[in-house]
Amino acid sequence: SAAEKAGYASFMLKEIAEQPKAVADTLLGRIDGSGTLSLDEVRIPPGVLREVDKVVVVACGTAFHAGLIAKYAIEHWTRIPCEVELASEFRYRDPILDQQTLVVAISQSGETMDTLMALRHAREQGARVLAICNTNGSTIPRESDAVLYTHAGPEVAVASTKAFLTQLVACYLVALYLGQVRGTKYGDEIRDVVRDLSGISGAVEQVLGTMDPVRELARSLAHKNTVLFLGRHVGHPVALEGALKLKELAYMHAEGFAAGELKHGPIALIEEDLPVVVVVPSPRGRSVLHDKIVSNIQEIRARGARTIVIAEEGDEAVAPYADHLVRVPATPTLLQPLVATVPLQVFACELATARGNEVDQPRNLAKSVTVE
Ligand code: G6P
Repeated sequence: SAAEKAGYASFMLKEIAEQPKAVADTLLGRIDGSGTLSLDEVRIPPGVLREVDKVVVVACGTAFHAGLIAKYAIEHWTRIPCEVELASEFRYRDPILDQQTLVVAISQSGETMDTLMALRHAREQGARVLAICNTNGSTIPRESDAVLYTHAGPEVAVASTKAFLTQLVACYLVALYLGQVRGTKYGDEIRDVVRDLSGISGAVEQVLGTMDPVRELARSLAHKNTVLFLGRHVGHPVALEGALKLKELAYMHAEGFAAGELKHGPIALIEEDLPVVVVVPSPRGRSVLHDKIVSNIQEIRARGARTIVIAEEGDEAVAPYADHLVRVPATPTLLQPLVATVPLQVFACELATARGNEVDQPRNLAKSVTVE
């Protein structure tokens, strides 16, 4: 009903707007100002976590994209090898699992059958399963060894927005916590990032306040057939998520690519006026990633693409090659998906609306898929 939408035209718009609060709620009571994490609710003893020698993340859809980002964070801060796999593929390929494997199952609903079957398979092999879930008491957390709830509140729109952002937060918390428990050489960095996380809700709020040009751009592209998305490092899963949102909501052909793969094929798709969204990593920190993506933007622009560039505030190097520039606040490299995804959600929602689509209930899709 209209009342439930609290004045928004759709649940999706309401849920996009709720993201600063959702992110803050996921962090509440789990981090403190001194840079310490407490995840007592993760009832896997620290001794067991110290013995983990492999992490496997399983999920579907948008939650899978959160898992792809988790891999960068987990491997960096914990130095434990991490695999990420679509739940529907995982158990049918005879994966190698034992008591030292930690399986992280990510699911908004906690009822996705593919993910549930993957976690059952993992537990049968003796692996420990940690669920990252938004729905209290749902099947996936009930069948897991431990659960970290995302506290995004109920998500009604089929296309996931606030659940995704809070899944990312939970994934970072797991990565940082494992790093803290195992005492890697990144101790100081872990403390700094925990502090940075406390500013993330404000950064998301800031992005939401600057979305009018993105909406205008989306409306101007409503007649297009294809949009491509490019990113590197954690920006690659962000590109995949941006493309998924357009497929789900606008029923458009959209694809996400790793920017470094352009030259190995996708660049052949570039033609005059094709919209290409590029997620640009911070020029601070790993500046090599930034330099490489700037040359990717130049390459596609030289071939006529219309470049829509998502870049950090103060990143002036990209400006000359951006037909449309969308600014996001500066964050540590690994946290950038929390701000860079938001314009892509707004873009897809507005574009779908301009095409006359029902954004909360896209055709052929279900919020939670309880069959394999
Ligand atoms: C369905 C939804 C997607 C969601 C996926 C996984 O396909 O339409 O939006 O990402 O399921 O759902 P889960 O509840 O497991 O996160």
